[in-house]
Amino acid sequence: MPSMRSNILHIINSLLKKRVIARAKSFHLVLIALFFVCTITAAEGEKEPTADKGISIYKALDALYKAILDEKLDRARDTVHMLDDLYKTFIVLITKEYADDPSVLAAATLSKKVFNVMSKKGWHKARLLDATGSPYNPDNNPRDEFERDAIEAMISGKRYFERIEKTGGINHFRAATVLSADMEGCTYCHPDKKLGDILGAISYEIPLDDRIHFLE
Ligand code: HEC
Repeated sequence: MPSMRSNILHIINSLLKKRVIARAKSFHLVLIALFFVCTITAAEGEKEPTADKGISIYKALDALYKAILDEKLDRARDTVHMLDDLYKTFIVLITKEYADDPSVLAAATLSKKVFNVMSKKGWHKARLLDATGSPYNPDNNPRDEFERDAIEAMISGKRYFERIEKTGGINHFRAATVLSADMEGCTYCHPDKKLGDILGAISYEIPLDDRIHFLE
């Protein structure tokens, strides 16, 4: 007869397969269930990880960790998508309204100020990148491997590029989206480019919550 511990582990495993428990509320339930599993394991004097047929606590924790990471990735992707729509909408609107008014800050300059504020407030990091090789501002040259790979991908025709990177022990979601001269206004200030040319990208960096660290 299967033990109570193995029943609980089977339930957790099937929920993980259905991707039900990565959501925040059920995540707490799973932790409580795992706590009971550990308690029962201790009470039954069983040894981990070899005691069970197929599913061990370690395996369940590993699957749980992966499910949570997947869920966090989905959320980070959604956030980047939303931010990208927001930033690009105001870049286009400012360009449309003020491209020929030299007294108004360029949309790129203003965006960088907003990126700075958002980063200082701890939300996310964003950078404006050049893809032309002759940037308005050399500060916009790609700086690290991710930025260089992202720009290479944009030049080869991709509109989106992403990667997970581990820095300081924390997984970071990094993504970049293309910025091209989609309107005539762009070429006022980038005169060596024509409509449709790729000018650069916006790159985003979002830490994937370190709450999952203890599971590693
Ligand atoms: C009013 C002038 C002006 C207009 C119009 C303009 N830009 Fe720029 N752009 C700039 C300036 C100035 C910078 C440098 C900003 C900085 O780094 O402080 C820049 C930088 C950039 C960069 C980063 C690479 C580089 O050259 O430094 C990209 C990408 C870019 N602009 C895309 C666009 C797009 C796309 C449009 C049209 C939607 C556009 N720009 C319209 C002035 C302009």
